[in-house]
Amino acid sequence: MNQPDVMILDNVSKGFGEDWDRETVVENLSLTVKRNQLTAIVGPSGCGKSTIVNLLAGFELPDQGTITLDGKPVTGPSKNSLVVFQETALMPWLTTYQNVVFGPELRGDMPKNELKAAADKMIETVGLREFRDKYPLQLSGGMQRRAELARALINQPLVMIMDEPFRGLDAMTRQLMQEFYMRLCEQESRTNVFVTSELEEAIILADSVVVLSNKPASVRELMQIDLPRPRNLDMLSSPEAYEYKRYAMEILHEEALKSFKGTDTSSDFLEAYTRRA
Ligand SMILES: Nc1ncnc2c1ncn2[C@@H]1O[C@H](COP(=O)(O)OP(=O)(O)OP(=O)(O)O)[C@@H](O)[C@H]1O
Ligand SMILES: [Mg+2]
Repeated sequence: MNQPDVMILDNVSKGFGEDWDRETVVENLSLTVKRNQLTAIVGPSGCGKSTIVNLLAGFELPDQGTITLDGKPVTGPSKNSLVVFQETALMPWLTTYQNVVFGPELRGDMPKNELKAAADKMIETVGLREFRDKYPLQLSGGMQRRAELARALINQPLVMIMDEPFRGLDAMTRQLMQEFYMRLCEQESRTNVFVTSELEEAIILADSVVVLSNKPASVRELMQIDLPRPRNLDMLSSPEAYEYKRYAMEILHEEALKSFKGTDTSSDFLEAYTRRA
């Protein structure tokens, strides 16, 4: 129980397709996810981030290398490692409350009273008390993301894996969600893996940031983020945050140049990273 590393990926490779046109998407990737920390994984679009998420969650198995969760090999999906996806997975015909209790009810692993109390508390935590009995379509984008979080958190997973959960939200809602999520993580210790293509989001949320190479994805750099807690978005303008950003940008720039050598697409790619600067 005391081991600090919850998940260990050791030299993991994964490819898709038949022999003749097999494409390696993840190559010799090694990383550890520390208990009660937020590990952000940042990498360019299409580099293999969701493939890594699928491997972590046991939806896919590695071709080579090993993945362990709490010392045991990951051989398939488990309620100990749950994923929150970019697209909402809320069921439109169920209310917020019904969506939150859906998983545990299906598994029948929680007494009814306990489940009801836990669900109401979770809905309160994500600030949706007044929207407990509303349907997803009656919620704003940000509220849907929070309902999604409640739905995952009620299962008390050992590791929460988030695959670009705030992608697609408008800039203002995205910032509000970042702040909300920051608070949530600081109030209750959790082990999180947060995948994003936004460098600033990674830096402000994380205890450590894993910078991926371009496809095939492997670890290019591991940065410890020593910004104080509690954090707020203003800290992104601090010299320390600026230095993290500059350093990671340099690496991402190199990766961009590698993949777009000879084209001018690399400037579009970089623009995506500097947009919020
Ligand atoms: N099941 C699959 N079968 C074949 N190819 C796949 C499969 N899953 C992913 N790929 C390929 O792996 C590469 C990386 O995809 P992945 O979705 O992991 O990237 P990503 O970094 O999450 O991208 P995005 O930024 O669009 O979310 C892509 O070239 C994709 O075509
Ligand atoms: Mg993806």
